Amino acid sequence: MSLFDPAQDESLCQILYGDSSAQLRPFVDQVDLILTSPPYADARKRHYASIRPQDYADWFIRFHPVFWQALKAHGSFILNLKGKIVDGVRHRYVWHTIERLTQLGWHCIDDYIWHKKTSMPGFWPTRLRDGWEYLFHLAKTQRPYVNHEAVKRPIAASSWNRIQRIQPHEYAPHLSETGSGFRRAMRAWIGKTHVLPDNVLHVSPEARNKGHPAVYPVALPRFFIRLLTKPGDLVVDPFAGSGTTGIAALQLQRRCLLIDNHYPYCVLAAQRIRAETGVHASGEYLSAPVPARARLTLESQAAIKRTAHAAGP
Ligand SMILES: C[S@@+](CC[C@H](N)C(=O)[O-])C[C@H]1O[C@@H](n2cnc3c(N)ncnc32)[C@H](O)[C@@H]1O
Repeated sequence: MSLFDPAQDESLCQILYGDSSAQLRPFVDQVDLILTSPPYADARKRHYASIRPQDYADWFIRFHPVFWQALKAHGSFILNLKGKIVDGVRHRYVWHTIERLTQLGWHCIDDYIWHKKTSMPGFWPTRLRDGWEYLFHLAKTQRPYVNHEAVKRPIAASSWNRIQRIQPHEYAPHLSETGSGFRRAMRAWIGKTHVLPDNVLHVSPEARNKGHPAVYPVALPRFFIRLLTKPGDLVVDPFAGSGTTGIAALQLQRRCLLIDNHYPYCVLAAQRIRAETGVHASGEYLSAPVPARARLTLESQAAIKRTAHAAGP
């Protein structure tokens, strides 16, 4: 049986229903990557519990002990967050949260920017369209596992043409003509076909309705899973929503553990994963009694779908 035979192996993807500060507790030193987009402050109040910006850092560090304990020594933690506008001013709860995490021992390896290629249209009297979000790379050590080769891109045509024209007198390192003091050694470029991308990820937001109000595009988790894990590794999303992180992990032959404290989202994630990867997720939630409130939500979701279907596109 191959490691990734979806019909044979239900352990490739596990979905747990509940608060991740409790559900993750039994996992010790087993996780290679925690990759998640938790609820943002004061967002999606109609869909799941929302946290006030001023309370956010305190709320989030509740999860620090289980994240720290579950993650392997050279594992990574990618956290997608975006600040909130309060009375016309951007609240800094994101920075406060990262600061608190670093005080607890996390190393902030780098800040990535997700440039949303198609940002929300609109008009705001003192601001422009919001076109990006943070993805923080945190780790327990200063040297987590990173596989640069996995994310290298083919060199741009213009650079390729320039490389073909490198002359011997350019081989020696020389100072940049901008006066910045940086040295360039053109010799190092000879024969190069691929280069590293930078830490700005140009990805369009998810445009289709996946049954969850805050689905991120599968390209985002795919990038970090390729960069920070190996095939067979375990990727955890403790705020899993519709299961996008799990889909990316399974597409790349990694295992995944998904946790959400909203029952219908656990069901949705299992359905999406089955439809988009062929993997049958396992999880205690499947046999657990469905809470009355969740049952209602599931029924109303099904009714909404039926109505939308009847109305046509
Ligand atoms: C921003 S959404 C994640 C969306 C996901 N990235 C996707 O693409 O579908 C955050 C999720 O965290 C869940 N959540 C909130 N608090 C939680 C908690 N304490 N434990 C587990 N899940 C939680 C919410 O139900 C929600 O589905």
